[in-house]
Amino acid sequence: MTTSGQPRTQWLGRWGFILAATGSAVGLGNIWKFPYITGEFGGGAFVLVYLACIFAVGVPVMMTEIAFGRRGQGSPVDAIRRVVNESGRASAWSLVGWMAMLCGFMVLSFYVVVAGWSFSYLWKMLTGGLAGSSVDDMAAVFGANNANPLTLGFWSTLVTLLTMLIVGKGVQKGIEKSVSWMMPGLVVMLVVLIGFGMFSGGFGDAVSFLFSFNAGSLSSEGLLAALGHAFFTLSLASGAILTYGSYLPKGASIGRTTVSVAVADTVVALMAGLAIFPVIFANGMNPGEGPGLIFMSLPLAFQAMPLGTLFGILFFLMLSMAALTSAISMVEATVSWLCDNKGLSRPAASWGTGIVLWLISTLAMLSFNLGADWTLAGKTFFDWLDYLTSRWMMPLGGLGMVVLAGFILKSDTFRDELGLAPLPYALWLTMVRYVSPLGIVVIFVDALGVYQVSFAAHWPWLLGILVAMAALGETLSPRLRHALRTS
Ligand code: PHE
Repeated sequence: MTTSGQPRTQWLGRWGFILAATGSAVGLGNIWKFPYITGEFGGGAFVLVYLACIFAVGVPVMMTEIAFGRRGQGSPVDAIRRVVNESGRASAWSLVGWMAMLCGFMVLSFYVVVAGWSFSYLWKMLTGGLAGSSVDDMAAVFGANNANPLTLGFWSTLVTLLTMLIVGKGVQKGIEKSVSWMMPGLVVMLVVLIGFGMFSGGFGDAVSFLFSFNAGSLSSEGLLAALGHAFFTLSLASGAILTYGSYLPKGASIGRTTVSVAVADTVVALMAGLAIFPVIFANGMNPGEGPGLIFMSLPLAFQAMPLGTLFGILFFLMLSMAALTSAISMVEATVSWLCDNKGLSRPAASWGTGIVLWLISTLAMLSFNLGADWTLAGKTFFDWLDYLTSRWMMPLGGLGMVVLAGFILKSDTFRDELGLAPLPYALWLTMVRYVSPLGIVVIFVDALGVYQVSFAAHWPWLLGILVAMAALGETLSPRLRHALRTS
């Protein structure tokens, strides 16, 4: 219920939620960020840890988040406070919700800049502005695109406007429908690119780069990046999934829903890797090129393939749409909080949010031109927004939620809300009590460099210890035995 006593709006069933949550999860994180950080951290080992983080941390956290949202019927702050109060615990735990809301907002502040790149490349494709045939030409195009704050600012402002326009119009209209054609469209474009990559001469190198899992080659920073990216790509701990969960009808299965979203998201990311790296290796590019990676490589592929311009236009159109369906989910928490607590109408809440967003995102945009030297510890404002949110705030928020669900709140709360059969429930509980929190803490401790040994080099051992501890915890846990007996 909102403060006005109206029942909250709901998705059109479980399917509507899956579409919206997939729309949120699949975005620039899969197609822009996953390839470039995989390149930066050296490939296979990073991919393996990322996959482990998706399934051992991401899936349980996502289930917990959806359950919080549906149980608490509100924005992250309100929902968490209600659920915590229901168990007689302190409202101060809603700090986890505040952090999530802030995090979604911070992510959007730099996301609109990257989405702006995508829109500007769509425009270039349409108007023939992507001429050039070498990696250097493409790097020059990317550089020129960033150099002028007015043009770059135009594109990020456009994305901000579109996002706030859609959010202002309400949750259901548009979102579900656009995802249902955009997502298959995106997959088709990736298939075309992968097909092209197979004949480009770089496919073999790409496959072995992505899937040769040599353990030990990953730095502590890479480990933290893999964990952070699992959160980022699934839209976790940033208000998006929790708020969407509050619109999920009661009867829908949270477990199955989560698995569908996580699998779809992972498939798209791996496909993006298979689409992009062949082009990179065939053209002798450096996979660790950084944030410009896809913008410097893909146009080369489109130029070389038959009907390339058409495919290029479609690709950047889909990518821009995918970015928008993610962007709208990032402010949904803030907007719904403003509506529920400050009595604002949806349009007023979203335009208000949009103005603040525009100011911060403009600063982030300037990191690529005027503000390129405004750095702190070698990072620009844009870099800091990305670094703080995905490496620290998201895993920390996720940790807060699993600790709440696993240890602090009454066990009935989540058993009721998740509605799982005994075995899957036991699995979820083991994950949220042991595997996810320990995984997050170990990676944090490693990244902080508190100990001299690098956990990254010893991860197979650590994985074994985690599993053993989970098994031990499970046999000793009275809560679990109680849960199994009474379910
Ligand atoms: N998951 C989105 C992507 O991969 C990004 C996102 C982060 C969306 C946080 C919502 C919240 O592009």
